[in-house]
Amino acid sequence: MTDTVVARIDAVAPSQPRFAALPPLALYVHIPWCIRKCPYCDFNSHEAKGDVPESAYVDALVADLECALPSIWGRRIVSIFIGGGTPSLFSAAAIDRLLGAIRARVPLSPEAEITLEANPGTFERDRFAGFHAAGVNRLSLGIQSFNPEHLRALGRVHGEIEARAAAEAALAIFGNVNFDLMYALPRQTLAEAEADVTAALAFAPPHLSFYQLTLEPNTLFHRHPPPLPDDDAAADIEDAVHDMLAEAGYHHYETSAHARPGSECRHNLNYWRFGDYLGIGAGAHSKLSFPDRIVRQIRFKQPRQYLERTAAGAPLAEDVEITRADVGFEFMLNALRLADGVPVSLFAERTGHPLALVARPLELATARGLIESDPTVIRPTALGRRFLNDLQALFLVDRGRDARTAPLVRLDPVRDGH
Ligand SMILES: C[S@@+](CC[C@H](N)C(=O)[O-])C[C@H]1O[C@@H](n2cnc3c(N)ncnc32)[C@H](O)[C@@H]1O
Ligand code: SF4
Repeated sequence: MTDTVVARIDAVAPSQPRFAALPPLALYVHIPWCIRKCPYCDFNSHEAKGDVPESAYVDALVADLECALPSIWGRRIVSIFIGGGTPSLFSAAAIDRLLGAIRARVPLSPEAEITLEANPGTFERDRFAGFHAAGVNRLSLGIQSFNPEHLRALGRVHGEIEARAAAEAALAIFGNVNFDLMYALPRQTLAEAEADVTAALAFAPPHLSFYQLTLEPNTLFHRHPPPLPDDDAAADIEDAVHDMLAEAGYHHYETSAHARPGSECRHNLNYWRFGDYLGIGAGAHSKLSFPDRIVRQIRFKQPRQYLERTAAGAPLAEDVEITRADVGFEFMLNALRLADGVPVSLFAERTGHPLALVARPLELATARGLIESDPTVIRPTALGRRFLNDLQALFLVDRGRDARTAPLVRLDPVRDGH
């Protein structure tokens, strides 16, 4: 960035944010255990060796929330997402105690969406019914594939029969259900990927998340890559998946998310619209706004360390301010994932800075055909969605990279993050 541009931004944007009103606040709860670690997974999840310390962990989550209360004082929670790991490893009684403890400590919107992530390998009808009775009103089911060969290749603990039984029960009990599926799986053909979409559509779930399988550092698949479809084959699969879902009436509203109109995930929409979230539990991330600053926090990642530090009243491993230099990029990293984009006014509302902070990269992105030239919204074009990482990188100001001359290269597909 040139000195002139820096001087222009300094003139229009003070270093501290100013908010007319704080953003909506969501709550994320992380449960860090799974039956077995999947070979492709880089989430903060650990194989449960023996019984998980369910009761001690719920105590820690409650203590963690109590430590955080001063930073969210007087604010209402609009949604809760209990993710992992495999939260469905926990008993319904534990989830009931957790939700009761949350309700007793923070005001919760009466219409709050409360999602729990479940693995078909932990499916029991009574347990699912118990989650529902505890107040969970949306279930996100990690189906991944309906094909037994692919489920085996992915190292999943469930097979096709468990996937179908869990899907059926989830829809009967919750109605509001998401299926997670992945494509471009080891040796997967286009016809097999299409068969997975057909199998998922037969259940008519309100929401479907389709992720391209990526080889993440520090995973078994990264060290010993399986034979994946090449880039061209993966792109063909992606196009076919998206076409089939659109034809079935699903709105492709975010990079990996497809919903029947009105069934978009409200909790995730809050992330993508740069809302606030408090994350409790091992390794959970938070983004919280205050009248004069925005902070990011990360809790201790290892379950044992998290339990010890939380008992000592200090669960935070990291607590940093989002600076004015970073806030434009962070906003765009989220907002540009949305197919319909966001109204321009949301930038000032959620960052506390005027839009002029990102005037230059916005101009560049529009000139390169990556953002629509509509002055009322910030919305990626089809080209912008295809080259999303490059588009987002244009907002990485002052990082020694001249975005104006950078080539358009399709980087790794973007990942969902909690
Ligand atoms: C945090 S996981 C939780 C779901 C639950 N533990 C399960 O796997 O059944 C959320 C989703 O991320 C997706 N995912 C995880 N690792 C991935 C990878 N390497 N590439 C693409 N998607 C991935 C999977 O679809 C998974 O269901
Ligand atoms: S993909 Fe899901 S079940 Fe598998 S290790 Fe990761 S969080 Fe656990």
